[in-house]
Amino acid sequence: MTTQVVEDREWIAFRQALERAIGVPLGQYKEAQMKRRLASIMTRRIIDGWPSFQKLLAADHKLLDEVRDTLTINVSEFWRQPDRFAELQKVWIPRLLEQRKSLKFWSAGCSIGCEPYSLAMILNEVDPRGSHSIIATDVDVPILNRAREGKGYYPAEVRSVPPALLKKYMVEDPDGTYRVTEELKRRITFRKQDLLSEAYPQDLDVILCRNVVIYFTDEAKSHIYRGFAGALRPGGLLFIGGSEMIMRSSEIGFRTAGTSMYQRAA
Ligand SMILES: C[S@@+](CC[C@H](N)C(=O)[O-])C[C@H]1O[C@@H](n2cnc3c(N)ncnc32)[C@H](O)[C@@H]1O
Repeated sequence: MTTQVVEDREWIAFRQALERAIGVPLGQYKEAQMKRRLASIMTRRIIDGWPSFQKLLAADHKLLDEVRDTLTINVSEFWRQPDRFAELQKVWIPRLLEQRKSLKFWSAGCSIGCEPYSLAMILNEVDPRGSHSIIATDVDVPILNRAREGKGYYPAEVRSVPPALLKKYMVEDPDGTYRVTEELKRRITFRKQDLLSEAYPQDLDVILCRNVVIYFTDEAKSHIYRGFAGALRPGGLLFIGGSEMIMRSSEIGFRTAGTSMYQRAA
């Protein structure tokens, strides 16, 4: 057997063991990107190959957590790209409210909760008495538990929240981190969901899926965007990350509606 064949087999065995351990199927994640991230852990920890890495993962829970975080990258912040959130508040949500009284939102890949809590602040400002629903999902269960708690946010993660809203919806704890108010927490339903293999919520008015699909292959991205088009009501919005773009969006039923925003065709 050539070295490459052995290396490929060892990699596949490692990946399968890792998938079982973290409960996330990785077949549709960009392989080169994944390997680069894992290689940096191997260099730092002086691990000499996939079989040794596999053995260590089975014995070391901290290492497993580190690997999970490295692959799914949970970096987030409130009001990420503030001008886009301001537009959501001033333009898009009021426009949707002219058509429907109760709106249904989905934050897909919500990480530590900054995105759905930012949205909850906006809804509270725009329509405090409205009964809107926010579903927030992620594949990473530990991170979802953190999101549910709604606390421990660092100053850097809240830096873009408009000052008046920070004062109204967040409390600074004695250790210098921030928590969200109970009122915001009540507005959100958190649940585990894998965008690559599980069913999507339906009849949505707005989907926020930002800085999530960047880890996926083109086929996986296409599966997800088609799923989003099917999950949105006609006229509903898909809000994506600042560095993202949907290729041939009109073929799957979207029209461009401004920076980082697509609208489901009627
Ligand atoms: C960089 S964070 C983005 C957080 C937030 N949307 C934002 O823009 O700040 C990416 C999130 O996608 C989640 N993720 C990765 N693969 C996923 C999958 N297959 N299904 C659902 N969520 C996934 C990760 O766990 C992580 O929390």
